[in-house]
Amino acid sequence: EPKEKKYVIGVSQCTLEGSWRRSMLLDMKVQASEYPNLSLLVEDAADSSLLQVEQIRSLVKRKVDLLIISANESEPITPAAIEAYRAGIPTILVDRKIDSDEYTTYIGGNNYEIGRLAGFFVNRLVRDQCPTVLEILGLKGSSPAKDRHRGFHDVLDPRIKVREIYGKWRPEVVEQKIAELDSLEEVDVVFAHNDVMALSARKAVGDRDPELMKRIRFMGIDAMSGRGSGLEAVAHGELAASILYPTGGSLAIRIAMQILNGQEVAREYILSSALIDKENAGTLFIQSEQVVDYQHQIEQQRDNLEKMLSKYTFLQNSVGIILLL
Ligand code: FRU
Repeated sequence: EPKEKKYVIGVSQCTLEGSWRRSMLLDMKVQASEYPNLSLLVEDAADSSLLQVEQIRSLVKRKVDLLIISANESEPITPAAIEAYRAGIPTILVDRKIDSDEYTTYIGGNNYEIGRLAGFFVNRLVRDQCPTVLEILGLKGSSPAKDRHRGFHDVLDPRIKVREIYGKWRPEVVEQKIAELDSLEEVDVVFAHNDVMALSARKAVGDRDPELMKRIRFMGIDAMSGRGSGLEAVAHGELAASILYPTGGSLAIRIAMQILNGQEVAREYILSSALIDKENAGTLFIQSEQVVDYQHQIEQQRDNLEKMLSKYTFLQNSVGIILLL
């Protein structure tokens, strides 16, 4: 009987920091374990576009069968991604795009629409006032930051004043930038491009002025489940709203397998988003507790399996050595 072909998928992640990325990776691993002939080679660029370019090139050299890329910044990653694609390696972009259409498929949310959802929410929140919004953008050159920003401004009531700072998707950057702002008095709403930045802004404002923190309304994006994450923050009223941003981890692996098996795939898979506010957050949060519990169980089982497998290969090898002797 012919042996099933073995496949290696290279995963180039802009970062693996934070629960959103970790959950994407877990979903990928769980889905990948459905295919005994598949393994993943995961690289973490730790927020560095330079490093990510190197990692993509080395994955190409190692002859991976397919590449999944989430580009730290679209422009600097584009040449390396194109090289891989032209070398005949199918490439799937997840969540963050590149500046070219030389890729196989995109899987992720519609970040322009997400920006619009945020804009509509802010319009409703501050109806009949002339407020000021502090927009905390993600990393300047990353596609979700560009698209969320554009969508937000396309629908925002023109009477609303906006101040902008770049938080680079990172809570510690936001904390520092907020501490450096000369005045926060006129800010009514903080819209951050993700929940970790929104929550860190809230904390930084609170450190400066607890009363101001109570008055300002904060909103973010991601609405991750689990303790300390966005969904819980909305349910407890720390954030006025968030927008669900699915990771697409397991879908990316399923689509990758279809490509590797020579099946046709679509040009893009847009994952749906939804506004989470105080009306629906409570119910969703209770439901998500269950899911998080399952996730822990799955992680546990994967650990046990891996331990058993390595014991088994050890035994197998020892038997081989004994037979040789
Ligand atoms: C995680 C993250 C998310 C955000 C996405 C944008 O690394 O910053 O919070 O929605 O990346 O690419």
